[in-house]
Amino acid sequence: MVTSHNITISYKELSSTEELSQEDRILLKEAIDTASNAYAPYSGFRVGAALRMESGKTVKGANVENAAFPSGICAERTAISSFVSNFPNDKPDAIAIAALNENGLTDEPVTPCGNCRQVIAEEELRSNSRIRLILGGSKKIYVIESINSLLPLQFSKSNLR
Ligand code: THU
Repeated sequence: MVTSHNITISYKELSSTEELSQEDRILLKEAIDTASNAYAPYSGFRVGAALRMESGKTVKGANVENAAFPSGICAERTAISSFVSNFPNDKPDAIAIAALNENGLTDEPVTPCGNCRQVIAEEELRSNSRIRLILGGSKKIYVIESINSLLPLQFSKSNLR
């Protein structure tokens, strides 16, 4: 018997940062500012991530590339590794992500790569929280309430049992 399933993902598209709450606007600005700290001599693509915790504190990360290309790490995983290492008992609330190319802030929002989606998914499970994603481009902003919309049918610890 063949059963067909359809998965719906949802996200909001905003046309301006004015449509964000003040705290989310600040978080996105922190992500953009952090992107300028990236070490990205190989791609020239600088990404920043700012993760706000329930306590209100923010942890930031940028991509850090390496001459041995696979040894580089994305901004999102830098921020999450720092968060887990330094604030293991706080809970993540939202993560803002933005990238700079040679012309400045990208027009389109940058969506996290597959590895980062997997890591954000693990963090939602570890912390038992939903992490709102705020993906900022100069022409539009996406707001996604949970990584589940970006990683349906995800592999997780439940598959290991
Ligand atoms: N990168 C990130 O940091 N985050 C993303 O979501 C997409 C890609 C980095 C990896 C690499 O240093 C550069 O951007 C180009 O792929």
